[in-house]
Amino acid sequence: MHRSRLTLDPDFRVGAVDRRLFGSFVEHMGRSVYTGVFEEGHPAADEDGFRTDVLELTRELGVTTVRYPGGNFVSNYRWEDGVGPREQRPATLDLAWRSLEPNRFGLNEFMAWARKAGVEPMMAVNLGTRGTAEALDLLEYANHPSGTRLSELRRAHGAADPHDILLWCLGNEMDGPWQMGHKTAEEYGRVAAETARAMKRLDPRLSLVACGSSSDGMPTFGAWEATVLEHTYEHVDLISAHAYYEPLNGDVDSFLASGSGMETMIRSVVAAADHVGSKLRDKRRINVSFDEWNVWYQSRFGGEDSLDWQERPRLIEDVYDVTDAVVVGSLLMTLLRNADRVSVACQAQLANVIAPIMTEPGGPAWRQTIFHPFALTARHARGEVLRTEPSGPRTETERYGEVPLLWTTATHDAERGEVSLFAVNRDRDEPMLLETALRAFPGARLVEHLELADADPSAVNTAAEPERVRPRAARGARLADGVLSAELAPRSWNLLRLAYDTGTAA
Ligand code: AHR
Repeated sequence: MHRSRLTLDPDFRVGAVDRRLFGSFVEHMGRSVYTGVFEEGHPAADEDGFRTDVLELTRELGVTTVRYPGGNFVSNYRWEDGVGPREQRPATLDLAWRSLEPNRFGLNEFMAWARKAGVEPMMAVNLGTRGTAEALDLLEYANHPSGTRLSELRRAHGAADPHDILLWCLGNEMDGPWQMGHKTAEEYGRVAAETARAMKRLDPRLSLVACGSSSDGMPTFGAWEATVLEHTYEHVDLISAHAYYEPLNGDVDSFLASGSGMETMIRSVVAAADHVGSKLRDKRRINVSFDEWNVWYQSRFGGEDSLDWQERPRLIEDVYDVTDAVVVGSLLMTLLRNADRVSVACQAQLANVIAPIMTEPGGPAWRQTIFHPFALTARHARGEVLRTEPSGPRTETERYGEVPLLWTTATHDAERGEVSLFAVNRDRDEPMLLETALRAFPGARLVEHLELADADPSAVNTAAEPERVRPRAARGARLADGVLSAELAPRSWNLLRLAYDTGTAA
C-alpha cells in the first residue's frame, strides 16, 4: 500500500471558488440541442419543447454557466436564422459538422432554457465568416432594452426584457485550420480587439473572452496567446484555453495524470498573459476561461469530412467508464487548484456529445459515469480553495514526465464550517493510505468519505443499467488526534467531507 501525507490549513489560500468554474457547453452539434436539451413531442417535453428530464439532471449536475451556440458551429452561424417565428426560419447548412440545421432552437429558446435550468449564459459571436458588425447586431438584439431596430425586433419576437448576457466569447478556436474563417494570430488579434472595443462601447458591463489556442499541442501555442493579447489586452478580460484528454496508444498511466498536463497548460497560458501585461505596463490581470475541457476519444472520430449532411447525427457520443470519471474528477480538481487564475470553465459538452447526460430520442435520460464527480464537486467545493502540498510516491509517465501518484485539492467554507478534500489515487493497482493533518481545524469531524472506483474500471452506465457506476460511501476513514486517515482505492476519485462548529473553530 502507498502512503501519502498532507496538511490542511485555512491560511493556505489559493483563491475564492468562482461558481463559473462549474460551467458546461451546449453546441449545435450532433444531438446536443436536438433530442438533447430540446425535443418537441417527447413525453417529458414542456410547453417550450425542453426535455424536463434533462433540465432536472442539469440542475442536479450543479452547472452554473452554459456556453452557446458553439464551438466550431458558431464560426459559420447566422444568429438571425434562429430567431423569429419558427415557420419562417430557414433550414441551413452547418459547415463545421456537415449537418443540416433546422433552426428550431435559437437565441431566445436558449435563453428561456437557461432561465429554467438556472444557469448563466455565455454567448459566442461568429468571428469566422462574420465580423464586428454582426457581433454588434447580436449584442444589440440581446441586451439593448428597447427603442432601436434590433431591440424592438427582439421584443416583437416575444422577449420583452433584455437578456442581459454578460459573458461573451470573441469567436471560437480561431487558431485551428478546421475553423471556418480561421485566422493568423495577427488577423484575429486585430478583429477581436476592434470587436471587443465596440461591444464594450455598446454595453460596458460585459466580460469578454479572447480566443487562446485550441490545444497546447498546436504549433502556435504560447505565441498565439502572446500575439492575440498584444492586440486585445486592454479590451478583454479573459483568454480561453481548450483541452481534451484520452489514453493515447493505451497509455492509461499518462491518461490518469491528465490533471498534471492541464496544470502545466494553465501555467503556460498565464505566463503568456502576464508577459504581455508586463510589456504593456498594464496592471490588470488577464485570467483564463477554460471553456472547453473533458475526456474525448478523438482518435475514434473520423473527422469532419467523413460526415454526411444529416439533421442531429449521432456524433462523438462517447460512453464513459470508471477511469474516464476519475480523470474528469481530477481535471475539475485541477481547475480548482488554479482558482486564482482560472475564472471560468466549461465542460464540453452537456448532453449526448461527449457529455455527462445521455438521452435517447423519445426515450430516457441518464447519468454517465463522469456526471458524478462533477455533481459532487459543484455541490461541495465552496468558499476558498486551499493549497495542498502532499508528500508521497511519484511515478514516471510517458506524456507528462514524473508526476505524483496522489492528486489533491481542498476547499474551505468558513461561513458554513465545511472543508472538502478531493483526492485521486492515480495508481491503477495499488491502494493508498492518505494521512491528513487537521490541527488547524480543531473540532473538525468527518462527515463522509465518498469514492468513485470499481473492481471493473471499464464499467459504464447505459440506458439499460443507468446506475451501474455511482459514488459509494467508503469505509474505514477515521479522524483521531487531529489526523484524518483514509484508504484510497486504486484509480479512484474521493471526496472527504469535514465539518466543524463555526462558533468554536478556525
Ligand atoms: O466540443 C467539440 C468541439 O471541440 C468544439 O466545437 C470545438 O470548439 C472543439 O474543437
